[in-house]
Amino acid sequence: MIFECQTYKIVVIVFHIYLVQIASFYKHEEKNVLFVFIDDLRLLTNAQVYLPNIHKLAGNGIIFQNAFAQQALCAPSRNSILTGRRPDSLRLYDFYSYWRDKVSNFSTIPQIFKESGYETYSFGKIFHPGQSSNFTDDYPYSWSVPPFHAPSEIFKDAKNCKDDKTGKLQRNLICPVNVTTQPRKTLPDLEILNNAINVLKERDATKPFFVAVGFHKPHIPLRFPAQYLETVPIEKVKPPSYPFRPQYLPTVSWHPWLDVRRRDDIKRLNISFPYGTMPYEWTLRIKQSYYAASSYVDELIGNLLDYVDMRKTIVVLTSDHGWSLGENGLWAKYSNFDVALKVPLIFHVPGIYPKHVDSPVELIDIFPTLIELAGLKSSIPKCKNSKDIKCFEGKSLVPLMHDVEQDIKRTAFALSQYPRPSIQPQINSDKPRLRDIKIMGYSIRTKRYRYTEWISFNSTLLTKDWNTTFGIELYDHVMDPEESNNIHTKHKYKHIKSKLSKLLRTQNIR
Ligand SMILES: *[C@@H]1O[C@H](CO)[C@@H](O)[C@H](O)[C@H]1NC(C)=O
Ligand SMILES: *[C@@H]1O[C@H](CO)[C@@H](O)[C@H](O)[C@H]1NC(C)=O
Ligand SMILES: *[C@@H]1O[C@H](CO)[C@@H](O)[C@H](O)[C@H]1NC(C)=O
Ligand SMILES: *[C@@H]1O[C@H](CO)[C@@H](O)[C@H](O)[C@H]1NC(C)=O
Repeated sequence: MIFECQTYKIVVIVFHIYLVQIASFYKHEEKNVLFVFIDDLRLLTNAQVYLPNIHKLAGNGIIFQNAFAQQALCAPSRNSILTGRRPDSLRLYDFYSYWRDKVSNFSTIPQIFKESGYETYSFGKIFHPGQSSNFTDDYPYSWSVPPFHAPSEIFKDAKNCKDDKTGKLQRNLICPVNVTTQPRKTLPDLEILNNAINVLKERDATKPFFVAVGFHKPHIPLRFPAQYLETVPIEKVKPPSYPFRPQYLPTVSWHPWLDVRRRDDIKRLNISFPYGTMPYEWTLRIKQSYYAASSYVDELIGNLLDYVDMRKTIVVLTSDHGWSLGENGLWAKYSNFDVALKVPLIFHVPGIYPKHVDSPVELIDIFPTLIELAGLKSSIPKCKNSKDIKCFEGKSLVPLMHDVEQDIKRTAFALSQYPRPSIQPQINSDKPRLRDIKIMGYSIRTKRYRYTEWISFNSTLLTKDWNTTFGIELYDHVMDPEESNNIHTKHKYKHIKSKLSKLLRTQNIR
């Protein structure tokens, strides 16, 4: 017994020395972190729009070609990414609750860095401002200094756009501008960039930093310096391959993209609610401006990266979710389609070689990945119990960064969800409030398929009933990359469907 005890002591001491060594190893190697967060940027290819700075970062880094948001709406997705937990765990599907007060005191990515001795900064839109981050962007828990917001952001919904037809100032969707004529002679993203650069230049370099920079574009309105239109000539913009509501699409999966309809220029087109389609010419024009706004943000990112020492800094670039550009007659976010869920996810990590990863991954994976890359891993485990405060629900992507074989072998999938108030599209279908949610669409994406079940959801008890289904969707990405052909009733896919259904139900344990 005594002998055993001593052995135990020796093991503890040796283990302790080992831990101290690891800690000091990481101390010398402490890397800075730059988190670049873009609002509503879907994954764009080179063929669609030239984004030289993002593509350069991707070329020198690790690019995840199949990264999916947990919900295609700003506040739920941002809180999910930043706490590393699914919307079901945060009980947030709208904009109106703060997890620390309503669920549990879950830690965030910047909070872990702050508690590990980093200086943490937030510029622009990182947390969704407002109630979902307690009107403070989770300061002081997440940030060392109060978050910076662009003063000119208060004019975001003002009549800023000179109308082509009338010459009057309106609240348009398409809004290329001359910056010198805008309120305060600037744009919010320019103010965000300048403030982030000032801090990067002037901060005391003895402590490592975690700097998060959140750009507002290409979120609507598409207000950007007009010269960026030249980067995307309208003749080069291609329409979606299927711009109508698909025949076999369940009504519950349709969202009426009200925020787009409500802009002054689109309102004038009298598109019928809820299923009318965008005129062809406007489809191309909106796509052009979305691309131009993305190109504008790309240039700001290039400027920002000029102030970062890439040898000492881990950079992660992503977006909260994607945005439909007319595919299947849909616009904006608010759905379970690939175009609304798939985002760019790029890591630059000093010492890790460039790589393309094809496995589906989730944005909640960013949390454990950054913690591991920065060497803070020993402090945080994977969640075993939904009440654990310091843990994460995703999977670290570090093994995929090191080993190509892992990518081929990995049978990974990504889970997402979207709430609805009703089976038929109605005025609040895009953004139902928690109390109005009656249906939840759970979706699973594998390398080849997307499978979705829209089931009954009780918003008071927060329970779901897998036996009450309001719509089912199955898409085969080999044949149908734009998800226009719902094949869930096809006999040929019977086995795939039952396999995916089982996987979806067993993975959604909460
Ligand atoms: C929540 O966590 C923060 C950060 O660790 C801590 O300062 C605070 O006291 C905690 N609040 C509660 C109610 O436990
Ligand atoms: C959120 O804000 C409210 C009102 O200011 C405050 O009472 C509450 O303590 C805050 N929650 C946390 C966790 O700080
Ligand atoms: C922008 O507006 C200013 C002030 O009205 C004008 O001097 C300038 O030429 C305009 N620039 C462009 C590119 O139109
Ligand atoms: C839209 O409706 C208004 C009022 O009914 C009408 O004056 C206008 O001409 C219509 N516009 C189009 C593009 O059909």
